[in-house]
Amino acid sequence: MSLLTAENIVAGYGAAERILKEASIRVEPGEIVTIIGPNGAGKSTLLKVVAGLVPAREGKIVLEGRDVTSESAVGRTKSGISFVPQERNIFGSLSVAENLEISAYQDSTGGKTRMAEMFDRYPMLAGKRGDLARTLSGGQRQILAMAMGLMTAPTLLLLDEPTAGLSPRAAEELFDAITALNQTGLPILMVEQHAVEALAISTRGYVLVSGKESAEGAGPDLAVDPEIRRLFLGG
Ligand SMILES: Nc1ncnc2c1ncn2[C@@H]1O[C@H](COP(=O)(O)OP(=O)(O)O)[C@@H](O)[C@H]1O
Ligand SMILES: [Mg+2]
Repeated sequence: MSLLTAENIVAGYGAAERILKEASIRVEPGEIVTIIGPNGAGKSTLLKVVAGLVPAREGKIVLEGRDVTSESAVGRTKSGISFVPQERNIFGSLSVAENLEISAYQDSTGGKTRMAEMFDRYPMLAGKRGDLARTLSGGQRQILAMAMGLMTAPTLLLLDEPTAGLSPRAAEELFDAITALNQTGLPILMVEQHAVEALAISTRGYVLVSGKESAEGAGPDLAVDPEIRRLFLGG
């Protein structure tokens, strides 16, 4: 059984009601799945539909065999989906510890255990637990955002362009952290602009063009596909 299937999803905003045009993707247990595609293709919209933040006008979302299409965003969090948005994903005027604390929602007991786990896994965050989040470097902020996403103990983590704006070195470190996290057994569905690097660490990838998947394959295969390299590396 697939962990997640999104089938023939139609979604949009206001008058632009068909940004996604029957897009279909799936995530199997243990996978890292990366969605790449041009700006405006609907990649973030697709993650938001999976997270329950944008409603699907058509199609269905099934998580671990259960239809969650009509579940609210909070309901989907409880069902195990955690979404780390591309922007404004941390609270700069709160400390690192406070950012983690509020990400556990109402579960303060579980939250304490979970925070200790995050400090174990990411010693950098432990060292900076009392510092305001806005004092962190770009790469450190992304680690914090990811740790915040883990505070609800998800069964599927959604990451929207985690390496956006990072230096090549910081991006590489973050990809290493994402790989390590996945190796704990957590499936990850991410959107990335650093297409080739992201596909190289992914089990599978999709190319989304104009709201519809146009290619699917093993990550490492897509990463060396001449057509994909031409489109995304301009070479
Ligand atoms: N909140 C919104 N309201 C109206 N249009 C939006 C909104 N968010 C995104 N769009 C439009 O939907 C299309 C797809 O956006 P998005 O999913 O963010 O693409 P991508 O992440 O692939 O760059 C774009 O044309 C964008 O302008
Ligand atoms: Mg986007």
